[in-house]
Amino acid sequence: MCADKTILVTGGAGFLGSYLCESLLKAGNDVLCLDNFHTGSRKNIAHLLDDRRFELLRHDVTVPLVAEVDEIYNLACPASPIHYQLDPVQTVRTNVQGALNLLDLAVRGNAKIFQASTSEVYGDPHVHPQVEGYFGNVNPVGPRACYDEGKRCAETLFFDYHRQYGLDIRVVRIFNTYGPRMRADDGRVVSNFIVQALRGEPITIYGDGSQTRSFCYVDDLIRGFISLMDAPSTVPNPCNIGNPTEFTMRELATLVLELTGSKSQLVERPLPQDDPTQRRPDISRAKKYLDWEPAVELREGLAKTIAYFEADLTSGEDAPKARPLPAPVRARARSAALNKETV
Ligand SMILES: NC(=O)c1ccc[n+]([C@@H]2O[C@H](COP(=O)([O-])OP(=O)(O)OC[C@H]3O[C@@H](n4cnc5c(N)ncnc54)[C@H](O)[C@@H]3O)[C@@H](O)[C@H]2O)c1
Repeated sequence: MCADKTILVTGGAGFLGSYLCESLLKAGNDVLCLDNFHTGSRKNIAHLLDDRRFELLRHDVTVPLVAEVDEIYNLACPASPIHYQLDPVQTVRTNVQGALNLLDLAVRGNAKIFQASTSEVYGDPHVHPQVEGYFGNVNPVGPRACYDEGKRCAETLFFDYHRQYGLDIRVVRIFNTYGPRMRADDGRVVSNFIVQALRGEPITIYGDGSQTRSFCYVDDLIRGFISLMDAPSTVPNPCNIGNPTEFTMRELATLVLELTGSKSQLVERPLPQDDPTQRRPDISRAKKYLDWEPAVELREGLAKTIAYFEADLTSGEDAPKARPLPAPVRARARSAALNKETV
C-alpha cells in the first residue's frame, strides 16, 4: 500500500470502519475518522486516539463537509436491519445525501473515493452465486428498501460522478462479514447466535434454517478493501468481496454450539419479510484483478469472535446502545411499534 496519504474514513467508529482505520494507520497514513456515533462506538477506536496520525471528527455525512484528503472511504450507514429500519428515512438520507456530499468533496479535492456497498443490492437473488453483472431482485417498497435502494442509489451516484466528472471511484459489494467488535445487540446472525449460545438462551432460527449465507472474516474483507482502493483505475467496478463458502443457518448454529460448548436449544421463528433465501458471492473479479481471496475459515474466525464476546459479556460494561434518535423520530418509531403490537 502507498503510505503518507491523508485518508477520510466515514463510519470509522463502526465495526468495519475501526479495522480499516487501524490498517491504514499501520501502513503509515494520516487518518481522519468521521462518525456520528449512531451505531459506532468510541470503544472501537479507543486504542487509536493517542496516535498522532489519527484524528476523530464527530460529524454526520448528511451535512456537507470541507476537508483536504487524498482518499475517501465511505462506510457511514448502519448495517444491521434492526438499526437501519429504526429510522428508515435517515437511512436513505445517509446513503443518498451522504454519498452526494462525499462525492462533491472528492470532486473539489480530486480525491479517490470508495463506496462500501452491499450484497443487499442483489435483493433476493434469482442468480446464484451473485455476479457483479446481475441487476438484482429488490422490493423497492418493503421494510429493507431504505437500505437496499439507498445503497443502489449511492452506487448510481458513484458511477454518474465517474462518467460526468471523471472521478476515480471504487465500489465494493460486501457480503456478510463478522468478527470481534460486532455489537451484541444488532441482530446480525453471527453475533445473535454467539450471544444467545454464551448466555444459554434459545438460538433463534428464522424460517426452517435452510436459508444460506456466506461469512467473511473481517481481516479478509479489509485486505480486499485496500487492494481495491490501491488497484489501478482500470480495475472494473463494482467488485464483490466476500467468502464464497456457503452455510445454512442451521449449520452455523450447530457450529456455534460446538465451539461455545453451549447447551442452548434451537427454536424456529417466522422468516422476516424480504429476507433473502440464498447469498453467495462470485469472487472471480476480485481473484483476477486484485489477486484477492479469503484466507480465514469460518471455524477459525468464529473462535476469535466467540473469544471477543466472552470477554465483552463478562466485562461488566454495558454494551453501547445505538445513539438515541431525535424526538420526532422516536415518537414515530414508538407509534409504529404500538401499531404492530395491536395488530
Ligand atoms: N458488516 C457487514 O457484513 C456489511 C455487509 C454489507 C455492507 N456493509 C456496509 O459497510 C459499512 C460499515 O458496516 P458496519 O458493519 O461497520 O456497520 P456499523 O453500524 O458498525 O458501522 C456504521 C458506522 O457508520 C456510522 N454512521 C451511520 N450513519 C452515519 C451518518 N449519517 N453520518 C456519519 N456516520 C454515520 C455509525 O455510527 C457507525 O459507526 C456500512 O456502510 C454497511 O452498509 C457491511
